[in-house]
Amino acid sequence: MSARIRPDLESIPAYAPGRSRPGAVKLASNETTHGPLPTVAKAIAEAVELANRYPDNMAGELRAAIAEFHDVDVSRVAVGCGSVALCQELVQITCAAPTDEVLFAWRSFEAYPIVTQVGNARAVQVPLTGGYAHDLDAMAAAVTEHTRLIFVCNPNNPTGTAHGRAELIRFLDAVPGHVLVVLDEAYYEYLRLPADDHPDGVEIGRDRPNVLVLRTFSKAYGLAGLRVGYAVGDPEVITALLKVHIPFSVNRLAQAAAIASLEARHELLDRTDHVAAERDRMGDALRSAGYTVPPSEANFVWLPLGERSAEFGEASAAAGVLVRPYGTDGVRVTAGDPHENDLFLAFATNSEVTGRFLG
Ligand SMILES: Cc1ncc(COP(=O)(O)O)c(C=O)c1O
Repeated sequence: MSARIRPDLESIPAYAPGRSRPGAVKLASNETTHGPLPTVAKAIAEAVELANRYPDNMAGELRAAIAEFHDVDVSRVAVGCGSVALCQELVQITCAAPTDEVLFAWRSFEAYPIVTQVGNARAVQVPLTGGYAHDLDAMAAAVTEHTRLIFVCNPNNPTGTAHGRAELIRFLDAVPGHVLVVLDEAYYEYLRLPADDHPDGVEIGRDRPNVLVLRTFSKAYGLAGLRVGYAVGDPEVITALLKVHIPFSVNRLAQAAAIASLEARHELLDRTDHVAAERDRMGDALRSAGYTVPPSEANFVWLPLGERSAEFGEASAAAGVLVRPYGTDGVRVTAGDPHENDLFLAFATNSEVTGRFLG
């Protein structure tokens, strides 16, 4: 006889990571192509020597480094086993009753519906605009007395679209102060919006206790394999996050690597210029070939291919490039190294392929 498991889990789709295949180019998981810098690798190697000891559960040194980087008090910083763990913990600290609602745009980061259901809350999904961006007015209008948490993914995964500072502030002004708004900025470092409209959630949230920002070391900082992300927000919200945090879940290697990466941030962040240029080059080439590609502010581009998405993904894999199809919505393609992107563009802009998928 097998154990009784929560029956509602049957309806939760398991998180589907991007595919890998030996020998294939992987543009499916929004990773960076560079391995850790020598100083980061050294910090990891040193941390390994203490692998028999538990890590610092409060991640004091890392939190202090993040606080200094953002010029905030350390009481405003929490870390998590990837920012995805923080997404789940945010549902845990805000939702208690099955009628409690978590609001987010759709399509957006695929973990949002999963963490909502795992947290026994109700997902309220607001369709993206025709331009594949968050419909912030519709989201504000969808707030009810049951809304506890709102995820705003900016730039949005998987469509790449981003809202500027003024639009975000207008939205935040329309949301009641008792609803926690999470600005998920996993791709923040790739934003290239004009300086006067640059949406820095940490700055926007400084005087707004109901705003919390998520950032990650997985993307621009290149530590996806070590699992560390962080939240910056009101101390009361951060204290609640610390209560539901799985003890020691941010491991010693991750903490050491994140501290070393922050120290080396100038070199790491310089690389994002190349990624942003490649993303723009890919978008331009694909548009010239006839694809619809919304403007991307992240390290990927979105091809809204509808029903043809899965087939396009298979055809690209057969051509040696793994991309990420999302149901019948579209395909996300990460900006990798120039030669990898060239391989994808050679496939996608080939007249046989455009004839098949754009005809
Ligand atoms: C929008 C968004 N938020 C959060 C995450 C989680 O990143 P991590 O758990 O690696 O920090 C991702 C990863 O793909 C993402 O796309």
